[in-house]
Order: sequence, then structure tokens, then C-alpha cells
Amino acid sequence: MTTLFTNISQLATPAAGPQRGAGMGQLHITENAALLVRDGLIDWVGPAAEAPAAANTVDLRGRAVVPALVDPHTHAVWAGDRLADWEAKLSGATYEEILARGGGIRSTMRATAAATVAELVALARPRLQALRDSGAGTTEVKSGYGLEFDAEIRMLEAVRELQAEFELRPTLLIHVPPETGRAEYVQGVCKELIPRVAREGLAAAVDVFTEKEAFDVPETRAIFEAAKANGLKIKLHADQFHAIGGTELACELGALSVDHLEASGPAQIAALAASDTIATILPGVTLHLGLPAAPGRKLIDAGAIVAVGTDLNPGSSPVFSTQLALALAIRLNKLTPAEALTACTVNAAHALGLKDRGSLSVGQRADFAVLHGADWREVAYTLGHSPVTEVWVQGEKI
Ligand code: NIG
Ligand code: FE
Repeated sequence: MTTLFTNISQLATPAAGPQRGAGMGQLHITENAALLVRDGLIDWVGPAAEAPAAANTVDLRGRAVVPALVDPHTHAVWAGDRLADWEAKLSGATYEEILARGGGIRSTMRATAAATVAELVALARPRLQALRDSGAGTTEVKSGYGLEFDAEIRMLEAVRELQAEFELRPTLLIHVPPETGRAEYVQGVCKELIPRVAREGLAAAVDVFTEKEAFDVPETRAIFEAAKANGLKIKLHADQFHAIGGTELACELGALSVDHLEASGPAQIAALAASDTIATILPGVTLHLGLPAAPGRKLIDAGAIVAVGTDLNPGSSPVFSTQLALALAIRLNKLTPAEALTACTVNAAHALGLKDRGSLSVGQRADFAVLHGADWREVAYTLGHSPVTEVWVQGEKI
């Protein structure tokens, strides 16, 4: 089955493959473009005047097309809320202080652990819908609010149910150490939880929150070794508040990505620039917590592969729009519009180990977003309103 998408005012896309450093700014822009899709894949793309014939035609009415966004970092499954914490934060309490006194994230964990799979599905669905309405064709979703292993599994089961409605990539997140018995907990994660998740096919990757208040580098290394031994990819939350060595470890072990990086300095930037591990920055956290911004500009100038995500979660980033994360990366992390599009498409896909999407080039999945306007830059410019009117996944309108 072939479909020719015509009357595209402008088609803007990064090349296929992870884009590093100066390559991130190099978009292919075609004016008056057409796109031929065969069985969900891109068969041809170029100027409309040269388009081949097709069985079906779809007129996109003079609007701009970009690759569907990929959100490489969300915690979209949670129960409860953090509204009281937020007010406390506004009166001066820091994220770490709230965490240290057992509030914050622990209240989300209690509420999430008490919820059924059906309740978690019902809570997550509108959040995932909002991300998709903002242009996200593929979204990563982490566990991590369960603590008890059965609750972690329920979070991943909720993601599995939602995979019937959304294109999702599930990640097992080892997020918060227990208040007592953490050595046994890490052992259980390695010997019981990770093997079970791998056996049941519940996650594609394992993520760890490596931080002074969470897991240290030796614990992270043990968890990563168990993940690899069970055939799972690895990702990392690192350098959010303190650079304690997580980024260096992730680069050494070939992690897909290291995420956050607000506290990264020259050593971490150099490690990422020298590796294929993707540096994922999360500007929603900068906006909501008033943290310093991750050094997006410096990472790109050093030659790193940078991706951008929402980090949608109730504590540090109530950002329900992948497109807003893209737009904020320009304002807060000093990316150019072209770099931000690359960061939210092909680089974000590679942060999930997905090589088949994120670029509108021959052989890639036909996952694309149609904008309201005729200029692709609206996807980067617009704040507070979705510039995306349609999302197509594998050549099908969602
Ligand atoms: O990515 N950094 C740790 N975890 C989350 C916050 C989760 C929460 O506070 O609920 C984050 O920012
Ligand atoms: Fe996160």
C-alpha cells in the first residue's frame, strides 16, 4: 500500500542516525515537498514536482511537516499529587529538603503503591494523550514509584496495557533507596526484580537515579551489570544536584543515555562528548524547580549527542507537552531551533535505542507531525499552545 502526502509547504528533518555537535544544526529543509509512504515506512521524500505516483494521495493543505517528536524521559505513571509540596517549595523548601524529610517523592510512592493497575492506567492515559497531542509519536515511560517489587511490576503492567493505545517504551527505574536495608534491596533488584522484568518482557532498559540522596556509583554499577546480564539496555539519571560520577560510569559502560546533567561540569561534558551515550536534558525541571539549566550549549559545542525530554513527573517537571520541552531547550539551554528539533526527534529516538524513527528519510518509519502553519520553526517558537495539528505514526493518522 502506498500513500503520497502532498502539498507540504516545508518538510524539515535531521538526517538519520544520531547527530552530534555541529551536525545537530544541519536540517534538511525541502520547500513544496511530498512524502511517499509504503507499508508504514518512508519510500521517497523530495520536491513535489518530482514525486512518484501512488495508490492514495493525502493533501496536507500547505502546512509544514517535521518528524514526530520522541519523548525519551517521562514518569507518566503515578498516583496522588504533589500540590502541597509545591507550595512548600514556593515558600523556600528545596527539593532535597522535601525528599530528606520523607515527603515529596515518598508520598507519590505511597499513593502509587496503593493503586491498582487499572487505576494507574486511567491516571496515565490523559497524560500520554497530552504528550501525543503536542507531537510525540513515541514516549518512554519509567517505573520507579513502586519501591516494593510488586508495585514496580504493576507500574510496568500499566505501561504494557497502555501500549495498546500509544507507542511506548517502558523502562525499569531504580529510583529511591529504602530507608533501611539498602544493601539487601540492591541485591534483590539485581537477583530478583531485574531478572523478572526481563523474563516477562516488561521493560527495554534499566535506569538508576545516581545521586547523593539516592544510589551511589558502586550500587549503580552493580545494577547495571545485572541489567546487562539480563539483556536489558541501561540509562541513568545523573548530575541532577551533584556530579558524583554517574555520568562517567554510564559512558564507561555504554549506557544509551545520561539524563538531567544540571550539575555537569567540564569533566562530565568531556566524557559525554567522547562517547556515544546520549546527553538528555530536561528543561522542564529547570523551569519548575528553578535549578540551573543543564549545559546544553556547551555539550553541543563539545561534540556530544544531545536529546531533550519532558521528564513529566509530579515532583520536578509537571510538563505535559514534548513540544514545550523542545521550545524551552532553546530558551533555557541555549539550543538553536534546528538543534532542538534534532534533539527531540532522531537523537531522542537513539536515547531509547530506536534507530528506525526520528528522521524523515528513506527507510525510516513514517512517523511525522503536521503543524498548523507553513513554517517548521513554529514547532520551536510556540509556547503554551500546541503548534501540532496532526500526528501520523507508521503512515496512519492518530
Ligand atoms: O527525574 N530525579 C529524580 N526523579 C525525578 C523526580 C521524581 C519526583 O520527584 O517525583 C526526576 O526529576
Ligand atoms: Fe526523571
